[in-house]
Amino acid sequence: MGDSGYPGLDGFLGTRAPLILDVLCLAMLVVLAVLGGSIYQVKRHRRYKLHKSIQITLAVFLLLVVTIFEVDIRLHGWQERAAGKLGADVPSRVFLAMYVHLVFAVTTVVLWVATIVLALRRFPKPLLPGPHSRMHTCLAWLSTIGMALTTVSGWTFYIVAFVL
Ligand code: HEM
Repeated sequence: MGDSGYPGLDGFLGTRAPLILDVLCLAMLVVLAVLGGSIYQVKRHRRYKLHKSIQITLAVFLLLVVTIFEVDIRLHGWQERAAGKLGADVPSRVFLAMYVHLVFAVTTVVLWVATIVLALRRFPKPLLPGPHSRMHTCLAWLSTIGMALTTVSGWTFYIVAFVL
């Protein structure tokens, strides 16, 4: 129980959100920034191995934070925090924001897994551009746009559920 009286630990951003959600929201911003750096390195400096390591590290890092988030939500729930009062109903706009976010989040997970698995299998060893480059460029940009939309819709859900 946090100081606020809601189940689970309170976050540090001063909203009703649980701690793990504050961590996840900030982690998404870090992921976007590092993703930008990784794309810059591969396009500008052709540092393919560095790009590969960063992309795999980002995926593992996100998987870890999202797994901790899922466990926390199963243990403590989020609906009392979203309702703003113990025992109150969650406003329907919160569910709308959540479903929009889930569509982007699930699509993006599928895109990331496909992008990484195909890149690992199809780029030549040692790692260099090749016949897979065209497909990778297409999937990779979709994955990047997906991650940006997942972040924006995630922050929107956070604000609708735990700030308003
Ligand atoms: C979800 C994970 C990934 C994302 C979002 C991503 C993103 C990108 C982007 C945006 C580009 C630049 C494409 C362009 O020229 O416009 C790129 C290029 C490249 N990526 Fe990735 N990447 C990912 C994973 C990987 C992995 C795991 C590998 C290696 C196994 C890899 C190898 C490459 C290579 C070799 C290029 C250069 C392709 C070329 O210029 O022909 N990427 N990636």
